[in-house]
Amino acid sequence: MRILSGIQPSGEPHLGNYFGAIEQHMKLQSEGDALYFIADYHALTTIHDAARLRALTADVAATYLALGLDPEKATFFRHSDVPEVTELTWLLSVVTGMGLLERAHSYKDKVARNINPSVGLFTYPALMAADILIYKSDLVPVGKDQVQHIEITQDMAQSFNAAFKTEVFVRPESRLSATPNVPGTDGAKMSKSYGNAIPIFARGKALKKLVGTIPTDSRDYTKEPLDPSTCKVFALYELFADAEEKAAMQDSYVNDRAFGYGHAKQALIAKIEERFGAATDRYEALKARPDDMNDVLREGARRARAIARETVDEAREAVGLGKMLV
Ligand code: TRP
Repeated sequence: MRILSGIQPSGEPHLGNYFGAIEQHMKLQSEGDALYFIADYHALTTIHDAARLRALTADVAATYLALGLDPEKATFFRHSDVPEVTELTWLLSVVTGMGLLERAHSYKDKVARNINPSVGLFTYPALMAADILIYKSDLVPVGKDQVQHIEITQDMAQSFNAAFKTEVFVRPESRLSATPNVPGTDGAKMSKSYGNAIPIFARGKALKKLVGTIPTDSRDYTKEPLDPSTCKVFALYELFADAEEKAAMQDSYVNDRAFGYGHAKQALIAKIEERFGAATDRYEALKARPDDMNDVLREGARRARAIARETVDEAREAVGLGKMLV
């Protein structure tokens, strides 16, 4: 089974990214032939600042390696080191109706927010389809917001295969992560754009301050039971706790009149530090050794590119371009 996903380099990764995507990516590396890439070509639809793109790309690389990406198991590379995907984007574009891309939510949302769309933003789903189809991916672990892009990919694969009477492309399926919403420091869904994120690698005072701002209700814990089912601190704690710890915390909320939100917040901080403490050290160390990260990405790109070239050659054959003469 081939597993593939792309990660946009969009800044400091937070707990929402971890439970929504990264954790699943790490687990899946042992369940098939996984390829993960840093979607720097995609990022160019929004980032027009070379230094920033370089920095963000290094951040994602360090994040994934620090959190357990094993280069022996998964192929990890930069999107732009496989330029074949742009070649395949063209071949897919010629069998893709404008209407299919006009219906894409992510594009429509941006237009609705008055962002003047570039051609690149419009054809983004075609590039994403090429990313997926070029590796003949079976499974694409993504967040909910990307499911429509996978459906578009299925359509494009089918249109290409039908138009050129070929079986080059394999139909990919999306896989959603099991974890639902991760609340941010204001109680709403955690998102970088809402400014309510808790970074995975926050520690010490910074972490304490962020967790401290999570809103709780005004019940007096010394006099009345607290309700874990509506508490955002509990919702976050739950993500880290096993069944026993979860039950114990629930019991404290309801029955322990010496246990308040401050205690719950301390327990949450301890969990975050326990889970990500060692990864934070690795993250800092990796960032100081960009050459080592590039060695991993280079090796990954070699493997990925070999697969990509083969698929594009099959597609070229199918449409009548054939192998390149030079
Ligand atoms: N569009 C995805 C996102 O914003 C990133 C991405 C690019 C991707 N190419 C992909 C995800 C291919 C899965 C497969 O999160």
